[in-house]
Parts: sequence; C-alpha cells; structure tokens
Amino acid sequence: MKRVFNSTITCEQDFRNRRKIITGALSAAVAVACSSHALADTSDVVEPLEPTPLETINSYNNYYEFGYAKSDPSDADKTLITSPWTVEIAGEGADKKGLYDLADIYGEFAIESHVRRFRCVEAWATVIPWNGIPLSKLIASAQPNSRAKYVRFITANNATQMPNADWAGGPYTEGLTIAEAMNPLALLAAGIYDEPLEQQTGAPIRLVLPWKYGFKYAKSIVRIELVEQMPKTTWWQQNPREYGFYANVSPSHDHPRWSQKSERVIGEYGRQRTQFYNGYENEVAHLYGALSDRQYFY
Ligand code: MTE
Repeated sequence: MKRVFNSTITCEQDFRNRRKIITGALSAAVAVACSSHALADTSDVVEPLEPTPLETINSYNNYYEFGYAKSDPSDADKTLITSPWTVEIAGEGADKKGLYDLADIYGEFAIESHVRRFRCVEAWATVIPWNGIPLSKLIASAQPNSRAKYVRFITANNATQMPNADWAGGPYTEGLTIAEAMNPLALLAAGIYDEPLEQQTGAPIRLVLPWKYGFKYAKSIVRIELVEQMPKTTWWQQNPREYGFYANVSPSHDHPRWSQKSERVIGEYGRQRTQFYNGYENEVAHLYGALSDRQYFY
C-alpha cells in the first residue's frame, strides 16, 4: 500500500488559529478553525484512516492514576489542575535547562495536526487526530550535548489530585533513545480533534509515538530529562518479563500472555492484522536492527 509521509501541510491560518486555540484552550473552551480540511490535510497516509469518534477516545482509557478500569479515568472527578502547568527540562545532556510554562511552550512552536494509528499492547487499536508539537523541536531547544543519549519523561504524581497516584510506587516514567525522540513521528500532544486533551487522555501534555505500544505514551508530563543512561521505565520495572524499553509494535512477537498478530478496533466488529511498527515501518525501521531482534518488540 502506498503511503506518503507528510508532516507539514498546515495552512497559515490553521497554524495561527491552532496555536491560539490550543494555548487558550488550556483554560477555555475551544472553537475550531479551518477544521473542515484540517484532518485530511495533515494525515500521513493516503489510504483513508477513519478517526475513532472523540467520545470513544475520551471514554476508553488507560490512566491508572485515575483507576484501573477503562471507564475509571473518564468517570473520575476532574481533580487534576492542568493550568497553569510547567514542564522542566533537565539532565546532564541538556545544555539549556529550565522550568517553562506550558503556555509559553505552545506559544513558541507551531501546533501541527496528525492522524495516527494507536495500538495498545493489550491488542486494541484506534485512530486519533492529534494536535501537538514535534518532540524534536523541544529537544533541540534544550541544546543537547554529547551526553544526551536518552530522553526520560516523568509525569504528574499528585496524591491530592489523583485518586490512585501511588499505583506504581512513584511517578509514571517513560523513555526513548535520542534518535527516537528526534523522529518526526514523535509528538507532544496538546489536543485531539482540535479540542484540548481531557484529564483522562493526558492533559495538558502527553507523548504520541505511533510506532510503539500505547504504554510508551506518557501522560501529563512534568519533566523531560536528557540523560546518558537508558532510563528504567514504569512498565519495564513493573514486569520486565513482559514489557521492555523499546516496545515497538510487531505482529511477530507475541506478548507472553496473548497474541499480537491481530488487533481489535475499538467501536468496530472483528479484528484486523497488526502491522510492523503499527504501519510506520518506512519512517522508523532504520532506527533499529534486525526485525527478528526481540529486544525492540516488547
Ligand atoms: N500515562 C500515565 N501517566 N499513566 C498511565 O497509566 N497508561 C499508558 C499510557 N500513558 C498510562 C499513561 C497506557 S498503558 C496506554 S495504552 C495509554 O496511555 C492509553 O492512552 P489513552 O487512554 O489516551 O488511550
């Protein structure tokens, strides 16, 4: 199937409006500008990707800090204070460290729209029209030095604002190699369908890594570190036999307890075949070694 990678088609007006909308939307309701063609224009695929309805995206979630059932995060009281919000840039690999107001970050970079497949390690899938900024731009602004080999993401962990904050014994953390973080597919998302993220989808800032399993998409990020050593990540620490650092999607590397050959599309009947790197092989396979190398696929 022919696919075209396209990350930059956004009309000037779209960009200006989105930036204003998403920044303002951190505290206010959202109006959509140029949205009639926003989704189509910025998709990376020629094959039609039918986005999952927003109500489904917002009500079928994994966010254990708000409970373990899929409906718990959306049912939970909206207790997480997401504005104002700061993100700290730190680590020995960052020459320019700092504590930044999220509104300033969103004001600095163009908000882009990208329709991406989403694949959870539990073998369910959705298609999500994200709004966000390329992770590479924020990393570049931290002026990485030669010690920046990995990026570590630390998320909010507030016992007074999250009913199940301590489920993992500390903040949910994730990690990428610096090359992965600089890949154009990696986004820091602010919204979905030109609406700001909800608490349950990781407001006000979360990772989007379409070629990886969903547990890599750390939600409600408060700190980003450029580091020399591969960081230990939450699920890897919880269960190292089942979850690793890379977690790239593969139909050929089954989870120890279930098959990854096919996936259930949320809101539809039946299953579809899983694709290598969730269909983004052309964009990311060069980052890894042999396709058979299991370390990249769990
Ligand atoms: N981030 C935090 N902080 N806490 C979590 O429990 N769950 C992860 C990921 N990010 C999680 C998280 C998992 S397992 C998945 S599949 C995705 O978020 C789910 O994202 P969604 O609820 O928006 O579909």
